[in-house]
Amino acid sequence: MNILLLGAQGQLGWELGASLSTLGSVIHYGRGEADFTNLEKLEELVRLAKPRVIINAAAHTKVDQAETEPLVAHLINAKAPALLAKLARELSAWLIHYSTDYVFDGLKNDPYTEEDIPTPLNVYGHNKLDGDKAILVSGCRHLIFRTSWVFSFQSCNFAKNILELAKKETSFSVVADQYGSPTGVELLSSATALALHQALHSEKDLSGLYNLVAAGETNWHGYALYLIRRALEIGWVLAASPERIYPQESSKIQPPQIAQRPANSRLNTAKFTSVFGLTPPPWQYYVDRVLWSWSRFRNIEMSPPAPPNKIIDLKFIPPLNYQPIHR
Ligand SMILES: NC(=O)c1ccc[n+]([C@@H]2O[C@H](COP(=O)([O-])OP(=O)(O)OC[C@H]3O[C@@H](n4cnc5c(N)ncnc54)[C@H](OP(=O)(O)O)[C@@H]3O)[C@@H](O)[C@H]2O)c1
Repeated sequence: MNILLLGAQGQLGWELGASLSTLGSVIHYGRGEADFTNLEKLEELVRLAKPRVIINAAAHTKVDQAETEPLVAHLINAKAPALLAKLARELSAWLIHYSTDYVFDGLKNDPYTEEDIPTPLNVYGHNKLDGDKAILVSGCRHLIFRTSWVFSFQSCNFAKNILELAKKETSFSVVADQYGSPTGVELLSSATALALHQALHSEKDLSGLYNLVAAGETNWHGYALYLIRRALEIGWVLAASPERIYPQESSKIQPPQIAQRPANSRLNTAKFTSVFGLTPPPWQYYVDRVLWSWSRFRNIEMSPPAPPNKIIDLKFIPPLNYQPIHR
């Protein structure tokens, strides 16, 4: 079975390469081979690959930059997925695609379900939503996984930036009024492979949009505190200490962020669990794994992370001055 993996060098794409290889023969294309701004070439590559499954892990993910280059972002995040959906339908292939919490305005009090109507606040959210809609109406067999706050060992992301900052600065502030679930690429890629395997072999058509994030929730400040506390516990030398990491309102960030972000990015994964019988473990488990990998890289001894069922703070790690959302 040919599996065409697009965006193979991104955080998620890189991890998917490993987990999909048990399902078939994976053709890995990064931006160099399959550039989403050249739709003609993209179509040619897909037809040549004759895939039974197309996995799209490519996206324009620079949320602030998308505000200043909306046409390029739309091409990559909406038009290219629409083309992939059309080709998947023609070739009777499955299309696996990833959506984002940023399709929502964050005003809901509870975690968002797949039934909630998206109303994005920024260009990235609008473009990603257009991509989702194009796939949903295309008639191709598809799995769209809507996720949030993605991180990995091998790329530049919030977790890595916070630890770098904590090495240099004794004190800094982190946004504390945006809530969500940090989601490790290991969870996304293993859950994708398991769900795809079921979709390929089920007599029912399991096509659909599914929320897929790690269990539990926090805000960026709580996430940063968790990282710093864990890093200190295992012997990292940091200039910062948890008491001097301050919560900050998004509206006070200097310089202000170009794109507005939702205050509530929490996603309800009940549909994913009920259809596929798979339960996402807590976000802290994947943060511990990444920290473990970085520690080994830095020759810091750390016991392997506790298994997910031993994570005590499953629900929430309250940051300093934690205020629940009241809207
Ligand atoms: N990151 C998050 O926090 C987050 C949250 C929610 C949902 N998601 C979704 O999850 C999926 C995976 O995200 P990720 O975190 O793995 O993103 P990522 O690390 O930024 O990877 C995206 C990949 O797309 C590639 N790409 C960018 N422009 C391209 C183009 N013109 N043609 C072909 N490839 C291009 C990038 O290549 P370059 O490296 O060369 O730029 C990169 O390899 C995306 O659909 C994203 O929207 C991500």
